[in-house]
Amino acid sequence: MKSMKNPNPNFSAKKTLSRLLKYVFRTYPIHVVIIIICIILSAIGSIAAAVFMSQFIDNVIYAGIQANGSVAGSGYEVVRPTLIKLILELGGIYIVAILASTLYQQLLCSLTQGFLHKIRTDMFSNMEKLPISYFDRNQHGDIMSTYTNDVDAIRQVVSSALPQFIQVMLTVILLFAVMLYYSIWLSLVVILAVLLIFFTTSKIGGGSAKFFIKQQKSVAKTEGFIEEMMNGQKVVKVFCHEEKSKAEFEILNEELNHNSFAANAYANMLVPIIHNIANLLYVLVAIVGVLIVINNVPNLSLRGFGNTESQALTIGIAVTFLGMARQFGNQFNQISQQLNAVVMAMAGASRIFDLMDQKTEVDDGYVTLVNCTIEEDGTIKECDKHTGHWAWKHPHKADGTITYTELKGDIRLFDVDFGYVPEKLVLHDVNIYAKPGQKIAFVGATGAGKTTITNLINRFYDIADGKIRYDGININKIKKADLRKSIGIVLQDTNLFTGTVADNIRYGKLDATMEEIEAASKIANAYDFITRLPDGFNTMLTSNGSQLSQGQRQLISIARAALADAPVMILDEATSSIDTRTELLVSRGMDSLMNGRTVFVIAHRLSTVQNSNAIMVLDHGHIIERGTHEDLIKQKGVYYQLYTGAFELE
Ligand SMILES: Nc1ncnc2c1ncn2[C@@H]1O[C@H](COP(=O)(O)OP(=O)(O)OP(=O)(O)O)[C@@H](O)[C@H]1O
Ligand SMILES: [Mg+2]
Repeated sequence: MKSMKNPNPNFSAKKTLSRLLKYVFRTYPIHVVIIIICIILSAIGSIAAAVFMSQFIDNVIYAGIQANGSVAGSGYEVVRPTLIKLILELGGIYIVAILASTLYQQLLCSLTQGFLHKIRTDMFSNMEKLPISYFDRNQHGDIMSTYTNDVDAIRQVVSSALPQFIQVMLTVILLFAVMLYYSIWLSLVVILAVLLIFFTTSKIGGGSAKFFIKQQKSVAKTEGFIEEMMNGQKVVKVFCHEEKSKAEFEILNEELNHNSFAANAYANMLVPIIHNIANLLYVLVAIVGVLIVINNVPNLSLRGFGNTESQALTIGIAVTFLGMARQFGNQFNQISQQLNAVVMAMAGASRIFDLMDQKTEVDDGYVTLVNCTIEEDGTIKECDKHTGHWAWKHPHKADGTITYTELKGDIRLFDVDFGYVPEKLVLHDVNIYAKPGQKIAFVGATGAGKTTITNLINRFYDIADGKIRYDGININKIKKADLRKSIGIVLQDTNLFTGTVADNIRYGKLDATMEEIEAASKIANAYDFITRLPDGFNTMLTSNGSQLSQGQRQLISIARAALADAPVMILDEATSSIDTRTELLVSRGMDSLMNGRTVFVIAHRLSTVQNSNAIMVLDHGHIIERGTHEDLIKQKGVYYQLYTGAFELE
C-alpha cells in the first residue's frame, strides 16, 4: 500500500482560517462586502427589541401610570404619541432587518456554491500539473477524499458558521455598546462571563481540533481502502480474502469511529458549559441589578456622563439589561454549536491547501514544436497552418536569434543514471542511439528497467545523471507538452476513460474526424471487433473498459497512439495480451505505423522484436547486450538463452 499523504505538521487552525477567509474574499469581494453590510443591518434589528423594551417600560408604561388622572387626561392619551413613534421605529428597523437577512442568505448561497466550485477547479488544475511521482507517493482514494469530504467540510463553514460568527460578533459588540451606554457596573458582570467563555472555548476547541484532523485523515484512509478493494475485488475473491479485507476494514472503521468520537465528544462538551455560563450571567445580572436599584447605588453609564439625572438605574434599564444578558448568552451558545463544524472545516481546509501547495511539475522548457515548411535548399520556415512538417523552434537567449531544427525523431541517451528515489539507482550508465526511423527493442527480465527508460524519454521523471538528446536538443530544454506531443505512447497499463470507443481513440488527437479514427483503428486491427460491438464506435465504455477483453483494450490504446501520428512511438508490451494470430495482424499494421518513425518497443515475446534495428538486453538497469537479432544469436549470450528458452517454452 502506498504511504499516506502527510498532513501538514505545522497545522494551525488560525492560519488556515485566515487563509480561507482571504481566499473567499479574493474570490467574491463584492458579495462579501454586501453580505457584511446586510449582517450589520440584521444585527441592529436583533438588538432593537432590547432597546425598545427599556423605552417602552420607562417612557410608556411608567410614564403612563404616573400621568393617569393628571390634568392632561388618561395616561394612555399622554403616552400615545411616544408609543406610536416607538412602534413605527421598531417596525421600520425590522423591515430593513428582514430584507437584509433575506438578501444575504441568497448572496451567501451563490457565494458558497461558487466558492466550492472555484476550490475544486483550483485543486484539479493544480493536481493535473503535479509530477507522476506525487501519485506514486499518495493513495488515490486519499486524494479523492480531499475533493469530496474536505470540500464538504468547508461548505458547512462558509455557508453557515462563518456568517453566523460574524453576525454573533457584531451583535455582541453592539449589545455591549448599548450595555455600556446604560450601566457600566452591569457591563462589568458581562465582561467577566465573556472572559470565562473565551477561556473555556480556547481550551476545549484546541483539544478537539487535534481529533478532527485525525478524523479527516481516518475518513481519507477508509475511502482509500474502499477504493482499493473495489478495484481489486477480483483478486480479493480469487484469493478468498473477503474475511481478511473485512477485518482490515473493521480496523480502519474502528479508528475512524474512535477519532470522530473523541473530536465530537470534546466539542459537544462545550455546548452545555457555555449554556450554563450564559445562565449564570443572567442570574448575576439580575442580582447585581436589583442590588443597585434597591440600594440606590449611583449608576455609572456612558449616557450619564455630565448628566447626573440620567445616572439612575431605572427598572426599565434593569429589565432591558436582563434581556440583553439573555441575548448575549444565546449568541455564544450559537457559536459553540458551530465550533465542531469550524474545527472540522479547518482540518479539511488544511488538507485542501496542502494539495494546492504541492510543488507542481517544473517546466523550464523553452524549445517548442511548430509547423513548418522546408524549402528546397533545406531552410526551415515557421508556418501557422498544418503542413505535416514539424520543427523545433529554439530561441537563443544570448544573442536573441532563433534557430529551427527539423523534427526527425533522433533520440540518444548518454550515460544515463536514474532512480525513483535518490538512494536507489534503477538505471546505470544507459547509452542508446536511436536514429530516425529505427526500431529499438528492449528485452529483459521483469523489473530490469525497460518501462523506466521510456518514462525518462517522455520526462515523466527526470534523470539523475547523463544526457538525453532529441534531434540534438537537450530534452530538458524542450517544453514538456511539446515533447510529449511528439511521442506516441502505448503504455503498459491500458487506461480507457468513460466515454464511447470513438472518444477513447480520439484521445490521441482531439480534432480527429471519424474517417481518421476508423483509419487508425484499421492500422491497429481494432476495426473488426469494434464494428461488431453493439453500438460500434459509439459503444459506451465504463470502468476502464471492463466490458472489453484485455486484448481489445490494448488494440484501442494502440489505435489511439496511431491516431496521434507522432514521429516517435513507444510501445510498452503493446501486444502482450493479444493472441498470436491477432498479434501477427497487429504487427503487420504496426509495421506500417512504424514506417518512417523512431520506435521503442518493449516485449516479452521475442518474436515481436526480431526485426528491430537494435535490441537492448537489460539486466538490473544495465544494458548487457546490444545488436541485431542475428548478432545477438551469434553471440550466444543472454539473448540467445532467452530466445532458445522462449522457443522451448512455446
Ligand atoms: N514508480 C516507481 N517508484 C519506485 N520504484 C519504481 C517505480 N516504478 C518502477 N520502480 C522500480 O524500478 C525498477 C524497474 O522497473 P520497470 O517498471 O522499469 O521494469 P520493467 O523492466 O518495465 O519490468 P516489466 O517487464 O515487469 O514491465 C523495478 O525494480 C521497480 O521496482
Ligand atoms: Mg514495464
